[in-house]
Amino acid sequence: MKIIVANWKMNQGFDEIDEWLDRFYEISAKNFEELQSFRLILCPPAIFLDYLDSELIEDGLKNLEEIAKKEGRNPQDFLPDEVSEYVMESRPIRLGAQNCHHKKNGAYTGELSAEMLHRIGCEYVILGHSERRIYNQESDELIAKKVEVAVEEGLIPILCVGENIEIRKAAQHINYVKNQIISSLPKLDKKIPALLVAYEPIWAIGSGETASVGQINEITNAIVRAFENGDLAEKVGNLYVLYGGSVNEENSQEILALERLDGLLVGKASLNAESFLKLCPGIKIQSNSERFN
Ligand code: PGA
Repeated sequence: MKIIVANWKMNQGFDEIDEWLDRFYEISAKNFEELQSFRLILCPPAIFLDYLDSELIEDGLKNLEEIAKKEGRNPQDFLPDEVSEYVMESRPIRLGAQNCHHKKNGAYTGELSAEMLHRIGCEYVILGHSERRIYNQESDELIAKKVEVAVEEGLIPILCVGENIEIRKAAQHINYVKNQIISSLPKLDKKIPALLVAYEPIWAIGSGETASVGQINEITNAIVRAFENGDLAEKVGNLYVLYGGSVNEENSQEILALERLDGLLVGKASLNAESFLKLCPGIKIQSNSERFN
């Protein structure tokens, strides 16, 4: 199973979202089997989460009616827990937030807590994205607190790490990334049940310059090894390593072929449902002439 995360950053509006969902459903209906090998996660601006969650619920309820019909059951006979589990589990795309506050609640004007995000249908949260580290001066220490509160509230953190071009040129990237992971994780007595670590070299984000498959492989192996021994051993139950930085339909296939890499974190190419789904190898997409004939 490969994981593909769409990070919309501060983009899209309601019209674009409707268009995105229509195209997404159109393509996914024709690729139901193929999509079972992917976990798709959508991280829109927080203001759209509730809307997307409602749309996904509506779609899930329609599917539930179909299932009930097939099983000869009355949809009203499903228990509330059964309905919510089905509606959540059958989602073709899961929701994630792009950030959360590091405190549980309180007088923090303009902020959103992990609990609020969880309540409106988020299962994941991106933390420590380099854009937040740079433009919002987020430190490893702050990110570690966010990871802690996210885990406590039942969200799965997508922890972003990655070096800048100077560190890469000085060949210090492996140590840098390892240290960044160590100091961006909270010191907890218990294991973090699931963690996604997204390696996103700053020089590759939005630049059109992707890291090479060899470079991604090197760092993926180093991250996996770091969680097997030393300071990070026993810290995490299920670890998944992702790559992000100028991923597109031309390079996604060879990156996803890396054995130890679990998936991708995608910015620009996720803004359009078609280009997003084109990142998933094996998905068939009809051309416009096929669609409209
Ligand atoms: P990009 O962004 O795919 O546009 O390079 C990736 C990210 O910042 O998560």
